[in-house]
Amino acid sequence: MGARSSRRACWSTGSASTRNAESPPVSRVHIQGLQIRYGDVEVIPQLDLDVQPGEFLVLLGPSGCGKSTLLHSIAGLNPISGGRIDIGGQDMTHAEPSQRGVGMVFQSYALYPHLSVRDNLGFPLRMAGLPKPQIAERVAKAAAMLQLEALLERRPGQLSGGQRQRVAIGRALVREAQVLLLDEPLSNLDAKLRAELRRELKLLHTQLRNTMVYVTHDQVEAMTLATRIVVMNQGRIEQIGTPAQVYDTPATRHVAAFVGSPTINLVDGAVHGGCFDVPGLVWPLATADAAALTLGVRPEDLIVGHDQPLQGTVELVEPLGSQHLLWIASAGRRWSALLPGPAQVGLGDTVRFGLPAQRLHAFGPDGRRVPLA
Ligand SMILES: Nc1ncnc2c1ncn2[C@@H]1O[C@H](COP(=O)(O)OP(=O)(O)OP(=O)(O)O)[C@@H](O)[C@H]1O
Ligand SMILES: [Mg+2]
Repeated sequence: MGARSSRRACWSTGSASTRNAESPPVSRVHIQGLQIRYGDVEVIPQLDLDVQPGEFLVLLGPSGCGKSTLLHSIAGLNPISGGRIDIGGQDMTHAEPSQRGVGMVFQSYALYPHLSVRDNLGFPLRMAGLPKPQIAERVAKAAAMLQLEALLERRPGQLSGGQRQRVAIGRALVREAQVLLLDEPLSNLDAKLRAELRRELKLLHTQLRNTMVYVTHDQVEAMTLATRIVVMNQGRIEQIGTPAQVYDTPATRHVAAFVGSPTINLVDGAVHGGCFDVPGLVWPLATADAAALTLGVRPEDLIVGHDQPLQGTVELVEPLGSQHLLWIASAGRRWSALLPGPAQVGLGDTVRFGLPAQRLHAFGPDGRRVPLA
């Protein structure tokens, strides 16, 4: 991705038909009252979403929650049952995919196996009837950006997975779309390549500044790439916020459990007289009495030390290089603690631990966050 700054001026991200010197280089996607039903199955009951121009919005959620369905409806690839979708200030609810000014990258690279990288990159432009010199120019720009210059004459079968995905991204870029939609583009790659391409995508975005909507179920990808994360569950939005907001103040139990690795510790109990109260664990909690309340503690927030009030036994130690994860069994419950450096204790050792007063999370029976004083 060399010579980034010098190439910045080369890229305009308005669609070919609407671009002019005055148009903003990026676009807003505004979704109101979106409903998607397949027969009796309500995949998206009612959804509003405003994607700001130039933002990197990540749709995050478990398998089957409707991420791809939402992305495809922005692209115009599936019929919608109700609502309205505006792209770049224009009503695109019923527009053909090719008219929407969006580029799409799929998980399966969907490259033409019999075409060279050069011809794969140029394919959407040939379909759009662009003159040859313009196609050559745009293909050259995309190839330079994505480090594909040396591979232009190869066929997809002669490329690695990472290189193929670069071609797929390049094919979306050559259209100079206002909005780039990416559906789990890295999930077919091994961990190292994923991290590498993730970095490249982020750099690409800082360079292009176009609007990106990116689907993943990988919370690390979401945290590292997003300007804002949309956490979805069963066709609904649970929370929209910056990665820090979603991580530090999860709006629901689902968000708390889905975002964060290792997973947050959650304990179901009740609150009586200013204490979270469950057999084997009584802990001061500044909230009103409640018959049912779930307490959440992130593993890195659990305090392990000789002077702490709770006691447990080390059940498992997972070394993670610069940190280790300690699994502690206590009063029929299992806690995880993420601690720096190598482990100082071993299996079966007794450890003392406590909960961090300022870093506790609480969720009511409806799953919503309960504020703590
Ligand atoms: N054409 C269809 N007909 C009926 N149901 C569908 C159709 N397409 C999707 N669904 C259902 O809609 C729900 C959401 O699917 P979608 O592909 O959007 O999920 P997803 O969040 O992208 O999941 P994944 O992470 O597995 O890709 C699923 O329950 C799926 O079975
Ligand atoms: Mg999907």
